[in-house]
This record gives sequence, structure tokens and C-alpha cells, in this order.
Amino acid sequence: MKILFLNGPNLNLLGQRQPEIYGTTTLADIEAAVRAQAEGRAEIEFRQTNDEGKLVTWIQDAASTADVAVINAAGYTHTSVALRDAIAASDVPVIEIHLSNIHAREEFRHTSLIAPVCEGQICGFGPNSYVLGLEAALSLKSAE
Ligand code: DQA
Repeated sequence: MKILFLNGPNLNLLGQRQPEIYGTTTLADIEAAVRAQAEGRAEIEFRQTNDEGKLVTWIQDAASTADVAVINAAGYTHTSVALRDAIAASDVPVIEIHLSNIHAREEFRHTSLIAPVCEGQICGFGPNSYVLGLEAALSLKSAE
């Protein structure tokens, strides 16, 4: 079982970026927590990019590289028709995650263009959203 974690723009800055919203945990810390939780249960691949096109290509390629994808599309969540189309076209189930509760923030963050084509959404639990995303990915596969 292989789970692909994809991270969008500015998530490379976690730890120093708006800590009052996103906390002080770095993306490397989050990756380590996910890997520890997945130990013996799933193989994890963890990637980050600031490029919209790269996220689209990674979703396209996920069909041959992963069983489930977990994505924090960051700012592209609210803007990217291309990312939504890629998820809609993919046979691989995709789970949407966010550190912050996007529904409790500015109005423009309330709309996720990718939500309707994802299996479900986890948001608002800080770094733990990633661990919950892992558990959701595992439960999807065990439910098959
Ligand atoms: C985010 C929420 C997005 O609205 C924002 O653009 C991000 C991070 C989160 O994880 O809370 O970059 O996806």
C-alpha cells in the first residue's frame, strides 16, 4: 500500500510562516510524524512544490505510483480548475487536507474547488490533519 502526500505552495515555509495560524512545526516534522504513524502499515512518499503544473502532473502520475493520494493544495485549493480537473480524471482516490480550518477563515478560503472531486476533507487540526489524512487513506483501502 503506497500513499502519496502532496503539498502545494508556501508549505515549504511552515515553521516560520504565520505561526499564529500554522504553528511552528515544519513540513519535515510533519513528514516524520506521518512516517512514524505509517510504520509497517504503508509506504509513504512526501512531496512539496510551489508549482501548480507540477501538482497537476503528480496527480496524473499517481495512477501508476500510488494507491491513495493525500493533498494539501494550499492556495491552489481555492483557485485551481486545472488541479480539480486532474483529480476528477484520476482513478486514484484523493483526500483533501488543511492545517487550518478554511471554513473559519476569510470568505475566499471557504470555497475549495477540489472538494467535490475528493473523497473527503480534513481541516483544522494543525499538523494532526496529516496524520488523520493518513488514517483516512488507510481506512479507504481497508474498506475495499
Ligand atoms: C492551507 C489553507 C489555505 O487556505 C492556504 O492558502 C494555505 C494553507 C492550510 O493547510 O491550512 O496555504 O491549505
